[in-house]
Amino acid sequence: MTDQLAYYAHPTAVLDEGCRVGAGCRIWHFTHVSAGAVLGEACSLGQNVFVADGVTLGRNVKVQNNVSLYTGVHCEDDVFLGPSVVFTNIRNPRSAVPRRGEAHYLPTVLERGATVGANSTLVCGVRLGRYAFVGAGSVITRNVPAFALVYGNPARQHGWISAHGHRLHFDQSGFARCPESFQGYELNQAKTEVWAEDYSD
Ligand SMILES: CC(C)(COP(=O)(O)OP(=O)(O)OC[C@H]1O[C@@H](n2cnc3c(N)ncnc32)[C@H](O)[C@@H]1OP(=O)(O)O)[C@@H](O)C(=O)NCCC(=O)NCCS
Repeated sequence: MTDQLAYYAHPTAVLDEGCRVGAGCRIWHFTHVSAGAVLGEACSLGQNVFVADGVTLGRNVKVQNNVSLYTGVHCEDDVFLGPSVVFTNIRNPRSAVPRRGEAHYLPTVLERGATVGANSTLVCGVRLGRYAFVGAGSVITRNVPAFALVYGNPARQHGWISAHGHRLHFDQSGFARCPESFQGYELNQAKTEVWAEDYSD
């Protein structure tokens, strides 16, 4: 069922035979991890979380209470999901038209360090770039660039944000510094992409 390494699961959690749970994970009350799910090391799943077959979580992914991760959802290392975030995996569901099986599921990918604020909804088939930040209560309908801050319904970009979660204010030469980490960021000329300086992958 697991990598046979130390992790904690509350007695009310259900871990199906075959799921893979990395060392140092913490899984809280009434949470269900399905057989084909893979959790990297040191993930935290809050109360009443559901992780479906085929979902992959990288290292140190934090999932707050009441989040269902459906087949097709992939979160890289250090992703943060606020409470009651809603994922979807079928774009045009109809009760009377069977659309079961992976062929019908659109993937949703959250790249390393992305954050999704509380109660946000992600329409399936989108990708959040590295360290993208989705404000609380947003509806994501399009891909989000790395380091972009988006919010609203539909979510629109309202600036850029550092890996430590601070707004980036670029000077005329397109350079900004995070006030907490002091890491440098550069905005490309088209103002569509940000690069972190000296950021090792
Ligand atoms: C997106 C966010 C980071 C912005 O924080 P900020 O940079 O301090 O922004 P401000 O509070 O100065 O707000 C700036 C403007 O954006 C609006 N705004 C901020 N967050 C918003 C959101 N999620 N949805 C819609 N509008 C939002 C504010 O109302 C304000 O509008 P105004 O200028 O017309 O008054 C923050 O509001 C947020 O949503 N954080 C997520 C919190 C969360 O879900 N945590 C989960 C774990 S508990």
